[in-house]
Amino acid sequence: MRRGSPWRSRTSLRDDVTRPTILVTGANGQLGYEIARLLPAHGEVTALDRSRLDLADVDAIRATVEAIRPQLIVNAAAYTAVDQAEGEQQVAEAINARAAGVLAEEAKRRDAVLIHFSTDYVFDGGASKPYDEQAPTRPLNAYGRSKLHGEQAILATGAAAITLRTSWVYAQRGHNFLLTMRRLGAQRDQLRIVADQFGVPNWSRQLAEATTAIVADGLPALAARAGLYHLSGHGQTSWFEFAQAIFGDAARPSLVPITSAEYPTPAVRPAFTVLATAKFEQTFGFALPHWRDMLQRCLAAPD
Ligand SMILES: NC(=O)c1ccc[n+]([C@@H]2O[C@H](COP(=O)([O-])OP(=O)(O)OC[C@H]3O[C@@H](n4cnc5c(N)ncnc54)[C@H](OP(=O)(O)O)[C@@H]3O)[C@@H](O)[C@H]2O)c1
Repeated sequence: MRRGSPWRSRTSLRDDVTRPTILVTGANGQLGYEIARLLPAHGEVTALDRSRLDLADVDAIRATVEAIRPQLIVNAAAYTAVDQAEGEQQVAEAINARAAGVLAEEAKRRDAVLIHFSTDYVFDGGASKPYDEQAPTRPLNAYGRSKLHGEQAILATGAAAITLRTSWVYAQRGHNFLLTMRRLGAQRDQLRIVADQFGVPNWSRQLAEATTAIVADGLPALAARAGLYHLSGHGQTSWFEFAQAIFGDAARPSLVPITSAEYPTPAVRPAFTVLATAKFEQTFGFALPHWRDMLQRCLAAPD
């Protein structure tokens, strides 16, 4: 079993005479940024941020795929503003569902492989053990519904697509819980943190390493393993415990556990969304570490 760190390629495409042409969308996002840094070791990468490819524009998607002629499309773009999505459901659907389906149609048209990311928020959180890929979905909010519709739109095309559901993504850049904690911790002596939602935090770099590792096995292997997978670190935690791990031994801020009811948000969040990752690990021979190890590695990373 390959482990998340350090990354090693068994069959690097670096030596191949024909390096695959790869299109990465959402290149400025937490995950897209890391993928765009790692994938050039395994192909000719064109990584486009929103300013160069707006997924709200279907014609632009088709024209871009036509121009680049990718053999692999990695869709790291998404509408990820969970609360905002409640008031912008059509925009969320356009990016997370329609555009995902169009990318899959284009992949199918040219026999390319699509790697797409989805979310733990497709589940209602009522389970008490980790969700596997067969578990029934029932999103509680507009973001989760739009992401589920994206999974379904991809499936309907029959494209060779790998859909990777993950959870609680953070990084040293972008918008995420780690950076929010740091910002608020510098401003306040006390932070009240939700302690009754359970999941697994994932560092975007290690998700990108896992993505790169499966690409390194080659596109035929990837196409043969098309399907839905859960990709996440091991263990489980609450937002409160995650915050404790972020601040470590720091004297301040003091952290106060609260319930979800004490922190109302426009979007309802599921209470428990730990993902069972055995299918990904057995299929690809690659496992992400425990969430605490990922966090330590992220906190120690220079950038
Ligand atoms: N973040 C999480 O906690 C989380 C949890 C579970 C699953 N996921 C999934 O993981 C994947 C990666 O998420 P992430 O954390 O990297 O999200 P992120 O940091 O919000 O990045 C998403 C990127 O998509 C871009 N984007 C938004 N609308 C776009 C549009 N119309 N056209 C082109 N690009 C657009 C954003 O552009 P701008 O930079 O211009 O805004 C952003 O760079 C997504 O599929 C997400 O649903 C994320």
